[in-house]
Amino acid sequence: MYSRYGSGIVRQPRESEMRQELETLAAKAETELAGLDGSADLEAWRVRYLGRKGDLTGILRGLANVPIEERKSLGARANEIKTDLADRFSEKTEDLKRRSTEVALRVDEAALARGDVTLPGRPYAVGRLHPITQTLNEMSEIFASMGFDVVEGPEVEWDYYNFEALNIPEEHPSRDDMSTFWVDWPTSRQDRKMLLRTHTTSVSARIVEGREPPIRTVQMGKVFRYEASDATHGTMFYQLDGLAVDRGITMADLKGTLYEFARRYFGEDRRVRFRCDFFPFVEPGVEMAISCVVCDGAGCRLCKESGWLEILGAGMTHPKVLERGGIDPDEYTSFAFGIGVERMPMLRYGVEDLRLFYGNDLRFLRQF
Ligand code: DAH
Repeated sequence: MYSRYGSGIVRQPRESEMRQELETLAAKAETELAGLDGSADLEAWRVRYLGRKGDLTGILRGLANVPIEERKSLGARANEIKTDLADRFSEKTEDLKRRSTEVALRVDEAALARGDVTLPGRPYAVGRLHPITQTLNEMSEIFASMGFDVVEGPEVEWDYYNFEALNIPEEHPSRDDMSTFWVDWPTSRQDRKMLLRTHTTSVSARIVEGREPPIRTVQMGKVFRYEASDATHGTMFYQLDGLAVDRGITMADLKGTLYEFARRYFGEDRRVRFRCDFFPFVEPGVEMAISCVVCDGAGCRLCKESGWLEILGAGMTHPKVLERGGIDPDEYTSFAFGIGVERMPMLRYGVEDLRLFYGNDLRFLRQF
């Protein structure tokens, strides 16, 4: 085309000819630019018209051969066209960029509107049962398999079922073992005192009243005591009480049942030990211990060097308790037991502080 200007051909081009050439080039460049819509095309356009070896540069070089008087005005015009084309080029580049993000956004919106099935799903957080609930379930399953019904009773209880009916009269010193949350609430019977039950044995007192022998029940739930909380005590904790009433029930039934429970919960090779203890509602009363789950009897920190861990209180139900409930103690005998629920997983898993169960720290709870 016009490369001859750059390659030094002698004929001097006329000014009008060159001016014409410039204007045609400018018009052509503009029309082409307007029609472009891809960044690759845009770059090719820039190289062709504005690049160092581009058409416009070629014309500008050719100016050297134009007579000096004409060169000035032609050169000015050529530079004007160059700046103008460069401006249009960056405008176009911006425009293209904006349009392509707009398109991208529009696509996302459309996907959202119809619910994009290719997006990864949001997983549901899978919950689990609290370790104490798991323990209650496991314990009640063991007793249910031995023929015990699982029973519940009120957490707010009459003084009568919590104490009186269990052979703990008003002035009895064993009341002092259980500091109590009394409930100050007007009732139809002003003389009947109410409290948050201090043990689930209160439910056993209700059961001897309400059921006919043979009876085999376990009653479990929350109990409350007005005392300072530490690693092994809390103002609220769980208990599971058991009761069996029938003709000819003996201490051997009690021992057999609890031995079976200890083996099922703590493992086949647990040994058990019974020793005398006192509870007003049983006679005789015993406490049961298992061989230490850590040292197996050798002596360690957990069992305080004794080799044994106490896990429950039990005994042959006191005749007065049966009598109060309308059961003839000459015809029927009965055994009863009470287990602190938190102590079971504490011993089995080596949890050293009871308060961990109620601290709601998921790092602890997730381990169960
Ligand atoms: N109620 C007693 C307590 O909270 C535990 C207990 C001991 C329950 C002996 C019983 C039992 O049923 O026979 O300390």
